[in-house]
Amino acid sequence: MDSRISQIVKQLFAVDVAVHLTRPNSEFGDYATNVALTLASQLGMNPRVIAEKIADELHKTDNSVAAEVAGPGFINLRVSAKYLADALQSAWSDDYGSNNNGAGKTVVVEYPSPNMAKPYSVGHLRPGNQGWAVKRLMEVTGWKVITDNHLGDYGAPFGIWVTGFLHFSSEETLAKDGVYELGRVYIATKKALKDEQERGETALADEVQAWLIKLEQGDEQAKDFSLRFNKISLEHIHRVMDRLKISTDYELGEAFFAARGKAAVQRLLDDGVAVKNDDNSIIVPLEEYGFEVPLLVQKSNGAALYATTDLATILYREENWHPDRVIYCVGAEQQFYFTQLFAMAKKLGIKTDLYHLWFGTIDQKNDDGTRAKMSSRKGVVLMEELLNQAEAKARQVVGERTVSDDDIAKIALGAIKFSDFTSDRRTNILFDWDSIFALTGFSGPYIQYAAVRVNKILHDITAGDGDRADYDYTAEKVVIAKLLDYPETVQLAARDLEPHKVATYLYELARDLNRYYETTRIDESTSGARRARIELLAKVSQVFTHGLGLLGIEVPSQM
Ligand code: ARG
Repeated sequence: MDSRISQIVKQLFAVDVAVHLTRPNSEFGDYATNVALTLASQLGMNPRVIAEKIADELHKTDNSVAAEVAGPGFINLRVSAKYLADALQSAWSDDYGSNNNGAGKTVVVEYPSPNMAKPYSVGHLRPGNQGWAVKRLMEVTGWKVITDNHLGDYGAPFGIWVTGFLHFSSEETLAKDGVYELGRVYIATKKALKDEQERGETALADEVQAWLIKLEQGDEQAKDFSLRFNKISLEHIHRVMDRLKISTDYELGEAFFAARGKAAVQRLLDDGVAVKNDDNSIIVPLEEYGFEVPLLVQKSNGAALYATTDLATILYREENWHPDRVIYCVGAEQQFYFTQLFAMAKKLGIKTDLYHLWFGTIDQKNDDGTRAKMSSRKGVVLMEELLNQAEAKARQVVGERTVSDDDIAKIALGAIKFSDFTSDRRTNILFDWDSIFALTGFSGPYIQYAAVRVNKILHDITAGDGDRADYDYTAEKVVIAKLLDYPETVQLAARDLEPHKVATYLYELARDLNRYYETTRIDESTSGARRARIELLAKVSQVFTHGLGLLGIEVPSQM
């Protein structure tokens, strides 16, 4: 209908205009447009007059549309349910919701990029959830997507691990507890380092540095430690990512880029882009980009740091993948760092759109009512423990019903992941077990349940071959209009990199569907109506699967 109105405008006023339809409050109509207002100054006409002319022309040519002019020149449109059903039918396809806007373009999406020294914690839940959703959004909008897990596998943690292991651990405990022992050692060593610093001593800190240097120089023992610890840690990361049902094409971590980074820094020095300080540290000044603070790209002792490896990462991706855009899914704490990093890239002449997709923290309500970053009595919340707890919760939710372990895992993940999308990603989210599993609220399980219910209806009732040609779809109008909104929802979510828009949409679809069931019985209808209804529900089911899939959530077979 938007294109029909464009046509009318062209015919009446001889101008080209893109008509955008919005969805007003249902008492005003099904759709609305302010095209008359936008044309008013261009045409030098009263917008109401323009609107009246468009409305008249619509009435003359299309008897399934009722147009009404409101206010200064809005056009409210009411269409028949049948008209919408036909529109849906012609827009429909097997990948309804997907589009090709990004065709020919390549995007690198980087997530969840956890750090090796410690067990996977809830701190890397959002990078994984948001990253996966953004990857899916890019894929269904036609982009070529390359995903990369930028592991934190280099730098101080390695030195801390080895020093800590030699002082505070043993082969037996390491064999028994794996990454959790490495995590414990890491924390214990950090504490010992802090105590030492307070005493004004440096023995332990020197040891940490010595191991780092050894590793850089290729010392055999250091390499052996590094390989073993990394293996333990990486196996753990993969186990957790498997449970989260996320994966990446590449896993090029900081370690991969350390030497490349130092070589790149040397080139920047040679080219005069970077500057060596008196203490031998190397910086890239960024004053011309509005930063008083330069970016430190090499430490005074010659060691590579975070920015060194990120510099090499940018160059490597440019050279090998030629992306149009790179999306870094990393928390809000690193905002300043990334604006500096991207300014440096500009200074190097890199034109790629580098985008820091940031998000807030996951908070919890403490017993005393205060709100704080999520933690447990033992410290950080471990991802594996959180998933175990979520699965136990999911079991409680399904109660007596027999539900497979596989479905339980899907419900648990659905609850956890969806909570990440209940508001704009930039806001801090409040993690609360009851609301994320609420079967009546804005939750993953609520939508999964709606999807399971549709699928059950589709399984139990056959459409038959009744004649649906005369069916008027009045009862289904709201649901049909909602389905028609889906492609634009996906388009906007992808354009703004805001997966929560899909979450909100799915919630509204589930809600509209539940209202529909309250008024309409699928199985007691005449054969034509039944066929029309079942075919519509099959479309709803497809959209649930597609939309939840964008959020990394699967539809259980039962719940
Ligand atoms: N490992 C880092 C962290 O957990 C995130 C890495 C982000 N990516 C990057 N290219 N710097 O904080």
